[in-house]
Amino acid sequence: MRKAAAIPLSLLGLGLAGLGYASVIERNAFRLRRFDIPVLARGQRPVRILHLTDLHLTPGRKMLINWVRSLGELKPDLVVNTGDSIAHPDSVAPLMYALEPLLSRPGLFVYGSNDLFAPRPKNPFNYLLRPSSGDFKQKVPNLPTRELGEGMTAGGWLDMNNTTARIKVGDLDVAVAGIHDSHINRDRYDLVAGPAPADADLRLGVMHSPEPRNMTRFAEDGYQLLLAGHTHGGQLCVPFYGALVTNCGIDRARVKGLSHHDSAWLHVSAGLGTSPYSPVRFACYPEASLLTLMPRR
Ligand SMILES: [Fe+2]
Repeated sequence: MRKAAAIPLSLLGLGLAGLGYASVIERNAFRLRRFDIPVLARGQRPVRILHLTDLHLTPGRKMLINWVRSLGELKPDLVVNTGDSIAHPDSVAPLMYALEPLLSRPGLFVYGSNDLFAPRPKNPFNYLLRPSSGDFKQKVPNLPTRELGEGMTAGGWLDMNNTTARIKVGDLDVAVAGIHDSHINRDRYDLVAGPAPADADLRLGVMHSPEPRNMTRFAEDGYQLLLAGHTHGGQLCVPFYGALVTNCGIDRARVKGLSHHDSAWLHVSAGLGTSPYSPVRFACYPEASLLTLMPRR
């Protein structure tokens, strides 16, 4: 009888230890990943892009706030924030504190669904069962999206939701097109559609969710580098196997890191946070990425 009871108790203990590791240790083990991307014309000087995404910030996440502040030391040529920055009505001020050392750098951003709609309690394992796009039933945003945008644009960052722009990055003249979040049907690619400016040194496409139908249009229009977040890298992964889900239309193999979409380079960041109601990451460290754009070989 004692032996029979020991097995379920051992499994319970293992489960609790795993949960503790995923929620306390790995969720706060932030990493900076570095990638070289040979996307520039020969002779151009390399530039460095810091790609941030999916902070899902709540005011109490001091370790995350301080880690993001420390990224200011990198002095990137451009900061790109691909959304889901906040997860609480009082998160804008802590987010601005976290971003403060970076806001003086050139930067741009798009929104994710969580910049508009506050997260709600749910079964964390739903993440593994189905895309979360059906979770956003409310139509009226209940997070301070306007204050969030004003905070980031006050320092000079560009709001790239369904719009285009030209921006100086290092020595480069960069043409940018961005779209709002396809996960909640706010993407309007038609507003940015058309051939990307041929005279730009780099053509950059930014979006929250790496939805293939949009990435194909970016690539067809001549955008050379696409940046996205949203997937959380799968968030709960299996060691030596990887992500179980991507939470959007992209395949598992490209759930995070550097890859291609048609003719374009694609970087998907696994991001830095989680929903406060699914506060676990396993075999999928929270991350930001420093992308060094190099001349083509
Ligand atoms: Fe997210």
